[in-house]
Amino acid sequence: MNVVCIGGGYVGCVTAVSFAVLGTKTTIVDINEEKINLLNSGKAPIYEPGIEQLIKQTIGNMLFATTEYDCIKEADIIFICVETPTASDGSADLSRVKKAAFEIGRNINKTKFTVIVNKSTVPVGTGDVVFAIIAEASGLKPDKDFAVVSNPEFLREGSALRDVFFPDRIVVGTNNQIAEEIMKKLYEPIVTRKNYSQLSAQYFYLKQYASDKYPIYFSTDVKTAEMIKYTANAFLAVKVSFINEIAMLCEKLGINVLEVAKGIGLDSRIGEKFLEVSPGWQGTCFPKDTSELYLTSKRYNQELTILKAAIDANWAMHRYVVEKIVNFLGCLNGKTIGILGLTFKPDTDDARRTQAQFIIPHLLSLGARIRVFDPQGMEMFKRFNPHLDIVYCNKGEDVAYMADCILLLTHWQEFKSLNWREMYRILKTPYILDARNFLSRSELEEAGFYYHGLGVGKNSGRPGR
Ligand SMILES: NC(=O)c1ccc[n+]([C@@H]2O[C@H](COP(=O)([O-])OP(=O)(O)OC[C@H]3O[C@@H](n4cnc5c(N)ncnc54)[C@H](O)[C@@H]3O)[C@@H](O)[C@H]2O)c1
Repeated sequence: MNVVCIGGGYVGCVTAVSFAVLGTKTTIVDINEEKINLLNSGKAPIYEPGIEQLIKQTIGNMLFATTEYDCIKEADIIFICVETPTASDGSADLSRVKKAAFEIGRNINKTKFTVIVNKSTVPVGTGDVVFAIIAEASGLKPDKDFAVVSNPEFLREGSALRDVFFPDRIVVGTNNQIAEEIMKKLYEPIVTRKNYSQLSAQYFYLKQYASDKYPIYFSTDVKTAEMIKYTANAFLAVKVSFINEIAMLCEKLGINVLEVAKGIGLDSRIGEKFLEVSPGWQGTCFPKDTSELYLTSKRYNQELTILKAAIDANWAMHRYVVEKIVNFLGCLNGKTIGILGLTFKPDTDDARRTQAQFIIPHLLSLGARIRVFDPQGMEMFKRFNPHLDIVYCNKGEDVAYMADCILLLTHWQEFKSLNWREMYRILKTPYILDARNFLSRSELEEAGFYYHGLGVGKNSGRPGR
């Protein structure tokens, strides 16, 4: 089979590399020439653990990259993996999906059956829209000459390869029998892991996370598949907002939310995942997907009030972080805050719409000076926030220079091994707000810091320095 992925970002790149590794000839088409050049020189256009090695191993033999759409002619399966950001009214902007559909219609091979797969997260009904655009641009007969399938993506940045090679489930929505067979065949190596043992000698990722739990291939219709993706993200956002609100209450009650989360997470009906307290959720998925789903619910006069509450609670959590700093330091005018972490989660360079993007302007508006460091996200954060007057530091320790507060926003593993004694030496007030409850309170208190987490009960007092 011959696969084309339109869009070579976090989803398109990982999808294409994975199919190439599994022995399917795959081509990435992206309008971004820089990304294509990087791919063709064996480099990754995104930061994702393990991906660059797999690109180096596959580019030029099973993986190809181009800015031209004519490779679509060769394709049996075409994945649409372009971004679907939030439009000004809060709905999903489908302009890139529609453009991709138009190019597919213009270039599709008219002599064979082709499957077009929406992997981008798109509102219910988008399958029909893509269908109509391709039919009009190609003159082909839908269902007879081509089919549009929904195959939502559930990978998480930072563990994307593991999620694609060892998923919990693969959701495929189609109303077309031929497309169903083709999709089953494409995913067979992942569902059965048939060739993993042979391939793992060459591709280390195939054995790294091997487990006995095989993925479920879940067949459904197009609209249900589209809805599954939005519902999954909305459910996770509600779960995070819920534990964050519980954390705020725990703090008032002098209870440690980590113990509470552990206690409820042991109940298999609840589960332990997504009960980590955080400075709120952000990133390129949860905000736009919750916004779109909430708007849809309003449009159909069936308001998702729980989702609205989760969105509001999320903004409250961003504000809570700033309030905690103000409670401790008093007036922030002229105070320096050193921020660790600009990406929405660790192990990615994705700094497009992150907690820092909302918390930093709030701190600046109160007169604070800001110093920041992130292991991978600084360049992208700077590109998306050129107006922010902040100091970008070369290493984590440097955010502490003359600082009145260290604020940890992203739990990069390497922040655990910062030279905290050196930081203590160069800062002004030894106050740490660990908004991920990630660092070792005892070690930091021993080093002389005041350590505050979120919702972890009693906070240490001023050390009187
Ligand atoms: N990033 C994630 O963790 C994740 C997880 C699951 C689902 N998704 C969904 O997948 C979709 C893609 O997300 P992403 O994070 O990979 O986006 P991205 O911004 O990283 O990548 C999108 C790529 O598409 C390219 N592109 C846009 N229009 C194009 C066109 N007409 N032709 C060719 N290339 C085009 C862009 O240049 C870009 O490189 C979104 O709908 C997102 O919601 C993302």
